[in-house]
Amino acid sequence: MLTPEENARLTRVGPGTPMGTLMRRYWQPALLSEELLEADGAPVRVRILGEDLVAFRDTNGDVGLIDAFCPHRRAPMFFGRNEECGLRCVYHGWKFDKNGTCVDMPSEPPDSLFKTKVRIRAYPTHEAGDMVWAYLGPPELQPPAPNYELLRAPRTHRHVSKTFENANWLQALEGGIDTSHSSFAHNNDIQNKRLLRNADTAPRLEVEKTSYGFRYAGIRSRDDEDYVRVYHYVMPAQQLRGGVTDWGGGKKDVPSLHGHVWVPIDDEHTWTFNWLYSYDPAIPISHDYAVDYEYHSGRGPDDYIPGTYRLKLNAENDYRIDRQLQRTKTFTGITGVNTQDFALQEGMGPICDRSNEHLGTSDRAIIAARQLLFEALDAVDRGEAPRGTDPSDYSNVRPVDLQIPRGRPWQTELERELIARF
Ligand code: FES
Ligand SMILES: [Fe+2]
Repeated sequence: MLTPEENARLTRVGPGTPMGTLMRRYWQPALLSEELLEADGAPVRVRILGEDLVAFRDTNGDVGLIDAFCPHRRAPMFFGRNEECGLRCVYHGWKFDKNGTCVDMPSEPPDSLFKTKVRIRAYPTHEAGDMVWAYLGPPELQPPAPNYELLRAPRTHRHVSKTFENANWLQALEGGIDTSHSSFAHNNDIQNKRLLRNADTAPRLEVEKTSYGFRYAGIRSRDDEDYVRVYHYVMPAQQLRGGVTDWGGGKKDVPSLHGHVWVPIDDEHTWTFNWLYSYDPAIPISHDYAVDYEYHSGRGPDDYIPGTYRLKLNAENDYRIDRQLQRTKTFTGITGVNTQDFALQEGMGPICDRSNEHLGTSDRAIIAARQLLFEALDAVDRGEAPRGTDPSDYSNVRPVDLQIPRGRPWQTELERELIARF
């Protein structure tokens, strides 16, 4: 349970708020590379952390991320001309490069120095892992570029997507680090009691804080084995989880590692970036496999409203819940694993009221994440660097989910599994 004040401190992300200030200390994915396919192509609107921005790929292929409004008289830069390494406002022709420098001001006399005095707000970008990452914080505190194993896996071994979520970022993150709900919300075969997550619905959670956040194991027992799902929470809002073992306990044909990065659009909306990459460098991720996985998650190509990253199944149609399916086959009656998540997380309201919750032992990871976030807010208040900004702290980790002999310590049994291979 949190007081309303604590809840506001964790959930509000606009400029100048405590969490907004903390969030701006990290690189965040701003958009997918696929949204800016060609140099000098159409600019794209981007809203993150409550800021309206425009992204464009310049003539050199570099991505600029600038204020959505021109510093002259605030015309929308979205309508700008993307030409010769800059975006030109179509109101009076002022042109800005990716660094925010005004490189042309044709509405002023040729000998005017005004152009040297005007800049547009611009943020550094870093393209990696089919995503464009951005840093919105103070320049003097900019950390090194992100370096997850995901970003080093070759393109043939990786798939990335994004989905609009109609809720505050924290309830999305708290869903992602909650292994317990997968025995319920994601149970799509309720009759089969042998499935690992049906055989034991009360996983023991072991949380270990690390320099980047924490790692935790959700341990479920079946017969003489423990099924251990080792997750990582990388601050401020990332989850890494294994996708190696199927629900029956067998090893998947294409074992993979999964996760999300949640980026606040503003206080009440979130971009959920979804990723997977190969567990085994010898087994690539084919396009067909990735598409199947996306359909299973509820976001195959036909699941999106065309031209958007929003899902057709949403609160307006109650995610097309099928009550007959719910009675006979699946726990929720909602199709698509992450659609199930969205129904529950969005249904809490735009910002979940945490003063009315009752946390149990299965919520240990959520409690730990909140502790770390409060600790990081305090660190930033004191002028210190928050946990998780140094890429070397997390660059070599990976998640996994495997069965080990019952009662054995997962830390030693899975030690080598938790080290990056790319
Ligand atoms: S408003 Fe952009 S150039 Fe005038
Ligand atoms: Fe989930």
